[in-house]
Amino acid sequence: MAIERTLSIIKPDATRRNLTGKINAKFEEAGLRIVAQKRIHLSKAQAGVFYAVHKDRPFYDELCDFMASEPVVVQVLEGEGAVMKNREVMGATNPAEAEAGTVRAEFALSIGENSVHGSDAPETAAVEIAYFFSGLELVG
Ligand code: CMP
Repeated sequence: MAIERTLSIIKPDATRRNLTGKINAKFEEAGLRIVAQKRIHLSKAQAGVFYAVHKDRPFYDELCDFMASEPVVVQVLEGEGAVMKNREVMGATNPAEAEAGTVRAEFALSIGENSVHGSDAPETAAVEIAYFFSGLELVG
């Protein structure tokens, strides 16, 4: 399988509870390398652009408010099949449906406050990575 990169966000519900290290340990245990990482505080407008694909969904406004409520950690994970591997490590969007041992099963509070975001395909990953990082910041 090809080496890929995927965009990951540790969301405000997790940064608030000081869970960045525990979540990063799960990525690393799964063989994903953190090749870029920074802690930022998004504005609501910046969150809105990132989640523009969801702009017609009923939860969009609440999602943008939440993502701008406190700092997030944005990161690039690299490894074999990184996009799908990260989705396995994260677990289902709704923590009630997430498999035991996944980030969301262990840490997520609700479908909205679900601790992490991960790109859903390599093409999306490229766009999402470019939204937060310049090429110089990606150190493989
Ligand atoms: P994420 O993978 O970051 O992508 C979109 C986010 O919308 C999703 O995780 C959830 O946190 C959030 N969200 C809030 N409410 C819902 C909902 N009812 N269905 C799906 N996603 C939701």
